Amino acid sequence: MCARAASQVPGNPEERAGNGGSRNGPPSPERRRLATALLGTGLISTIVSFFYPVARYLIPVMQEESMTAVTAAKISDLKLNSGRIFKFGSRPGLLVRTSGGTWKAFLAVCPHLNCTVQYRSETQQIWCACHNGTFDLNGQVISGPPPKPLEEFEVNVRGDEVIVSRSRRA
Ligand code: FES
Repeated sequence: MCARAASQVPGNPEERAGNGGSRNGPPSPERRRLATALLGTGLISTIVSFFYPVARYLIPVMQEESMTAVTAAKISDLKLNSGRIFKFGSRPGLLVRTSGGTWKAFLAVCPHLNCTVQYRSETQQIWCACHNGTFDLNGQVISGPPPKPLEEFEVNVRGDEVIVSRSRRA
């Protein structure tokens, strides 16, 4: 059929095109189901994206609160005047063996902006690299912006293991 003859066929142009629908009529049931499914998926995604971070925040806090004691190291792991990071629940702890052989442990989270602190053997102090905050070996602030001391843990040595627990004073 030539082009001129095709343009002269009577009837609805969309029916002639063979797509089976109408632009101005009501949507077909399949389209409605698809639109409903897309809206439902979007709503569920929005709810999940809101509650997931909240749950992720609350669950570690609950884990940490229930954490009472951990084995932070073996005695042989730390020489005198050294420190190491260990896990206390979901948060870092800092275990220090002083030059005099005393064990000290703290929550290794800086009370300024939550950076992880570390032990510096040169100065025998605890240091926060983020804003140069320093603490003494009792966790007290020596200098820098931290607004309060580090949380101190209790340390007990049992056999070869160094056990760290939440301080009864805290
Ligand atoms: S986060 Fe430690 S000094 Fe700022």
